[in-house]
Amino acid sequence: MDNPWLYDERSQVGTDYADASRVSQYDAGMQRLRDVSREVEIAAQALSLSPSATVWEIGCGTGELAIGIAGKCRHVYATDVSPAMILVARHKASERGIANVTYEEGGFLTGYTPPEPVQGAVSQLTLHHLPDLWKLTALRRVARHLSPNGRFYLRDVIYPSGVPDYDAYFAGLIAAVRSAAGDELAEATVAHIREEYSTFAWVIEEMLKQSGFTVVDKLTERFTTAYTCVRAGR
Ligand SMILES: C[S@@+](CC[C@H](N)C(=O)[O-])C[C@H]1O[C@@H](n2cnc3c(N)ncnc32)[C@H](O)[C@@H]1O
Repeated sequence: MDNPWLYDERSQVGTDYADASRVSQYDAGMQRLRDVSREVEIAAQALSLSPSATVWEIGCGTGELAIGIAGKCRHVYATDVSPAMILVARHKASERGIANVTYEEGGFLTGYTPPEPVQGAVSQLTLHHLPDLWKLTALRRVARHLSPNGRFYLRDVIYPSGVPDYDAYFAGLIAAVRSAAGDELAEATVAHIREEYSTFAWVIEEMLKQSGFTVVDKLTERFTTAYTCVRAGR
């Protein structure tokens, strides 16, 4: 039985990804605003994928990244806490004839985990759904399911360390998003800052270290940072 103090990761923070109409909107936005093939290439390279590798994705959303990565490895175990997301992702994979991805309900903290240690783990834009107290527990759980020297690619909205005035930083960030991508994404960014649990780079980097990961690459693009990590061998 779960501890009574365990955070309920199924309670949606910010956008409600348990709502089916929000999920379709999210999927449409993803096709419009994101370069999924580029994301797949970057993640696959970070994970040094081989055709025999297995990968766990945490927070797979509507399943695009998992489908792309499935073309470069043996199997992807893709998980998300939202049943509505899993439904769309399964449907998409079956429509595209993808047989080597399994989509299951599960989160960073609880639920489905891959049946054997995986060589790669990946998570994009999801860790910020957990308050900081639970991020370390989540990262340690990822590390436990990776094989020795397995790789973890973590990309999320992360705020830079050492900013003297965060109000000025956020105002600049929102203005940059508005001019590059329009009002809708700018307003989503405002809501993200106000309601979701994105945190500072120094917090994430210390937590990665405390989970047994070594960061071997770090790439910041606009408001996201991607960490490529290797789990220390045991
Ligand atoms: C912003 S979406 C990102 C989806 C996808 N990774 C992408 O890049 O488009 C966040 C996703 O994380 C899921 N999620 C929220 N909390 C989670 C948790 N604790 N564990 C796993 N997934 C979670 C949500 O249901 C949603 O599908």
